[in-house]
Amino acid sequence: MRDRLKFGLIGAGSIAQAYVQAFETSETARLVAVADVRAEAARALAEGLGCRSYDSVQALADAEKELDAVVVCTPPVTHPEISTLFLRRKIHVLCEKPLSIDSASAKQMLETAKANGVTLTMATKFRFVEDVVRAKSIVTSGILGEIVLFENAFTSRVDMASRWNSNPAVSGGGVLIDNGTHSVDLMRYFLGPLADVQVVEGKRSQGLSVEETVHIFVRSTSGVMGAIDLSWSINKELDSFINIYGSHGTVSVGWKESRYRQSSSRDWVVFGKGYNKVEAFRSQINNFARAIAGEEQLLITPEDALASVEVVEAAYAALRQNRWTTVNGDAFEHRSGEGHIIEARDMV
Ligand SMILES: NC(=O)c1ccc[n+]([C@@H]2O[C@H](COP(=O)([O-])OP(=O)(O)OC[C@H]3O[C@@H](n4cnc5c(N)ncnc54)[C@H](O)[C@@H]3O)[C@@H](O)[C@H]2O)c1
Repeated sequence: MRDRLKFGLIGAGSIAQAYVQAFETSETARLVAVADVRAEAARALAEGLGCRSYDSVQALADAEKELDAVVVCTPPVTHPEISTLFLRRKIHVLCEKPLSIDSASAKQMLETAKANGVTLTMATKFRFVEDVVRAKSIVTSGILGEIVLFENAFTSRVDMASRWNSNPAVSGGGVLIDNGTHSVDLMRYFLGPLADVQVVEGKRSQGLSVEETVHIFVRSTSGVMGAIDLSWSINKELDSFINIYGSHGTVSVGWKESRYRQSSSRDWVVFGKGYNKVEAFRSQINNFARAIAGEEQLLITPEDALASVEVVEAAYAALRQNRWTTVNGDAFEHRSGEGHIIEARDMV
């Protein structure tokens, strides 16, 4: 077996903790260095891992000559500059969502990766949840008939008043870009390219300067309707986060259990145990590392990452103008998930 790839972790904040747990049991990659402008945070994380720490991205990039890749876990506005610094040094980049807060800089990131012959992808953990992959196989198998409606909800109350997430200069917006980036990526995974989008904003109960609660309505180019329900202000206590309705049945991906039912049957078929965060992060790292090593296909392509930035951008235009807005650019051939399809026939 080949040696595990050597990774740097950029940003030692909240999501970095999930990566640390995932790297601990990864068979494909290991952490060798951590950087954060908060030197103490970088040091604390690095100490626990037995690796080196740096108080700036530049210092890490200059000192670590053997790096294969980095995971960028800093706030969104910093993603283009930090990713570009490494891509230019021919270091592969797994960048946390959103890839960028605007499509112009996202395109430049893709071009830089291509020009330097390195892999760039966006981290969006839900695509690596086993039940999501299985649900996609169920939809693809056709046993639910023709898909008519896709629903997704990420609603849980979090106080964002003192976090960068509610500062649009840093985050690019509110809940729409924050949780909505996951939603858009999931919807594209199931339905292919998205055609147009409309957004309705709800009450701002935290008094933030950005949207806290939105309903996003989307139509895919294949004519399927999507409804995405996002909030930082309310907790809807839902058991599932994806429901897909077809002419012959329904599939539901839940937090603790996933199941489907064909209209011809009274019984639900349980096919998974729901969401496991560390497992999803580990699968994401493994897919990225194996793609770098040429061993498997990248599950989230750079084009998928760019498309999600473009859909979010169109959603903000729709919100500002209060009208259905065409998604420009989401015309990439839908290749997501190839190689990860589990035959639903095997499970039925
Ligand atoms: N996949 C997920 O489920 C998920 C969940 C939460 C956050 N995220 C994403 O992860 C990223 C980080 O979010 P977070 O919640 O961990 O934020 P955080 O604020 O907890 O951590 C960010 C860290 O980056 C450091 N930092 C900021 N600018 C830096 C720079 N220029 N150089 C080096 N370090 C710098 C900060 O000091 C901080 O420690 C965001 O893009 C966010 O959208 C993803």
